[in-house]
Parts: sequence; structure tokens; C-alpha cells
Amino acid sequence: MNNIILCGFMGSGKTVVGKELAKITGRRFVDTDELVEKKQGIPIKAIFEAYGEDYFRELEYQVCCETAEMKNSIISTGGGAVTFDRNVEALKNGGKIVFLDTDFDTVCDRIGGNTNRPLFQDIEKARALFEERRPKYEAACDFSVDGNMSARKTAMTIAEMAK
Ligand code: S3P
Repeated sequence: MNNIILCGFMGSGKTVVGKELAKITGRRFVDTDELVEKKQGIPIKAIFEAYGEDYFRELEYQVCCETAEMKNSIISTGGGAVTFDRNVEALKNGGKIVFLDTDFDTVCDRIGGNTNRPLFQDIEKARALFEERRPKYEAACDFSVDGNMSARKTAMTIAEMAK
């Protein structure tokens, strides 16, 4: 029950902040996308292409359930994870959820030209998804933190909150 779970939009900084936070707090870093890739043996983009989003969401749900058994971990979730109630329920069994509240412009700067994200191929569609999801992140989280700061500052802020 002592995990810290990071949620937020694609490019909000979950992985970079999570790794920093793991160092600061002496916890293990875990990434739900990596666990999904391990389960299926291929990258997320290939899972979407070969099997579709619904199939990916099933794997993601299984992984969210598995995180409840983890201890002393920082868990970075995929950008869609906590937009599903069943994932929020499963994740909350293992710890507290923190929302990295990062502006869309910062998200775009961070993602740059990276084309690995199936749901971030078109900027206007991504903006609409961002607006639609923001209230869901807010509802799912136990705390939120400004994600526009440097990863170090954001991680330090979360470490203080989690004390
Ligand atoms: C997704 C975000 C991705 C990954 C998948 C779907 C989403 O994770 O889980 O491409 O629905 O926003 P990141 O937020 O780590 O990019």
C-alpha cells in the first residue's frame, strides 16, 4: 500500500519524473506500458496495429491489477489507464495516485516528433483527448502536482507530499 502511482496525459513527464522520484525515495521504478509490452512480447504501437486498442486495454487492466501486489514502487501508468474506473480501483489497492498536471503546450514540446504513440498522431485529436481526459485524471487522483516544472522539482514536490 506504499506505492506512488503517477498518472497524466502522454508526455506529462510520468516516466522521467517517476525515475527521479524512485531515486529520491529509494523505491523501485515500474512502468505499466513496459509490463504490457513484456506480456505481449512486442511494442505498444505494434499491439495497437495488430490487435487494436480494446485488446491493449485488457492487457493494461491485467497489469493494473498486478500492481496491487507490488511494494515500495513508483508506478508510471500509460496516459489512458486511469480514464477507466476498473483501472483506478485496481491501482488504488496498491497506493496513492498522483496526477502530473502538465499544460498541453508543454506536452507537445516534450513529445516533439516522436511517432511511437498511436493516440498522438494528430495534434488536434490529441488536444481534444487532452481536454476530455483532464477531469478524469483529477477525479482519479489523491493528489495533483504541477507537471510543467523540471522533473527534479516535480519529483521533490511529490516526495514531500508523500511523506
Ligand atoms: C496511451 C498512452 C501511452 C500508452 C498507449 C495509450 C493513452 O502511454 O499507454 O499508447 O491512451 O494515452 P504514455 O502516456 O506513457 O505515452
